Amino acid sequence: MKELKKDFPLLMSQDISYLDSASTTQKPQQVIDVVSAAYTKSMANPGRGIYALAEQATQEYENARKAVASFIDATPQEIVFVRGATEGINYIAQGWARDHVKKGDKIVLSHLEHHANLLPWQRVAKETGAELVFIPLLKNGMLDMDAAQEKITHGVKFVAITHESNVIGTPVDVTAITKMAHAVGARVLVDACQSVPHKKVDVKEIGCDFLVFSGHKMMGPTGIGVLYIKKEMQDEVQPFCLGGGAVREVTWDAHSLADAPEKFEAGSPSLVQAIGLHVAIEYLNKNVPFDQLQDHEAALTEYAITEFEKMPHVTLYGPLDVLKKEGRMITFTVDGMHAHDVAAYLDTKNIAVRAGHFCAQPLARLLGYDAAVRASFYCYTQLQDVKALVSAIKNLK
Ligand SMILES: Cc1ncc(COP(=O)(O)O)c(C=O)c1O
Repeated sequence: MKELKKDFPLLMSQDISYLDSASTTQKPQQVIDVVSAAYTKSMANPGRGIYALAEQATQEYENARKAVASFIDATPQEIVFVRGATEGINYIAQGWARDHVKKGDKIVLSHLEHHANLLPWQRVAKETGAELVFIPLLKNGMLDMDAAQEKITHGVKFVAITHESNVIGTPVDVTAITKMAHAVGARVLVDACQSVPHKKVDVKEIGCDFLVFSGHKMMGPTGIGVLYIKKEMQDEVQPFCLGGGAVREVTWDAHSLADAPEKFEAGSPSLVQAIGLHVAIEYLNKNVPFDQLQDHEAALTEYAITEFEKMPHVTLYGPLDVLKKEGRMITFTVDGMHAHDVAAYLDTKNIAVRAGHFCAQPLARLLGYDAAVRASFYCYTQLQDVKALVSAIKNLK
């Protein structure tokens, strides 16, 4: 794959091996420039004014929506801009599940879920009297698809599932899970936070009803995420939030809602963030062919795993054989040393990794650690960054 590091001013101006891209990504100059230009050249509130500048802002906002839609094979009407994946999941929990899940219904999740795709469903279960059911993992770290088939049966109303684990990198066959869910009349939400930045995600092919991801994990600005709501589901979802821009007609006593997606986006839109996300998508389309990205990330992952496997003081987690072929992160602990201390030590060598439970405490307990270290890669990660990590951890022996 083309060498891209030069496009990332932070990586070029600091002596850092940035290995925390699963948490958030660095931004290319193109995104930084367009964010600045939006403030200097196209600043007006989209969807409201009828002067030229406001119309330009509206156009740019809607162009961003179109770019997002085509990136995941949805239609613009199916794309709702939210603050991030967390807000998108809470949107469906509050705006759909509270009205459609009843006492005794089952909500199926997996043991891989991020807190963002667990806590909202715990609340729905508590409020409605529904039961949470979990698909377990196999010993090798992959999802147990036979158990999924057994658990997604009559009585299941909703399935909320990650496309790829942010803790151990496990890829999940969400197309198969969606088929199982639809066969019993359940609706499906896919948490695609860790997949959309790295591989082709096609909502039509998956067939899911809802899907979420965050712009900041794919080189876009912070504060913008995407909630895909399948066209057929749009009448069933209540706007999470009401106010300006989401309505057609308002009296003192009542209101009628605008069409989707406007009805789902009350308040002044995040114009600059949407414009930045649009350019991040253009950057990905132009510079990061997903097949080459996959090879690049897998090569780094395979190198790291192979080296760590030689170190008796290191324990690795996750489906290592799968990660060697299609992974982009490694998660490990070092014998006799707390993960926070490992991360602090790596920081002294200018290596930035994440340490902790990665917003998945129940999974950490299941895997048998309080805290682990995660190194995660993206298009700008170089082999020398991973070599620096390997050599630093080797020295800990
Ligand atoms: C799998 C997964 N789901 C959800 C989230 C939450 O994303 P955000 O904090 O951008 O809302 C993350 C972030 O780490 C994640 O990795």
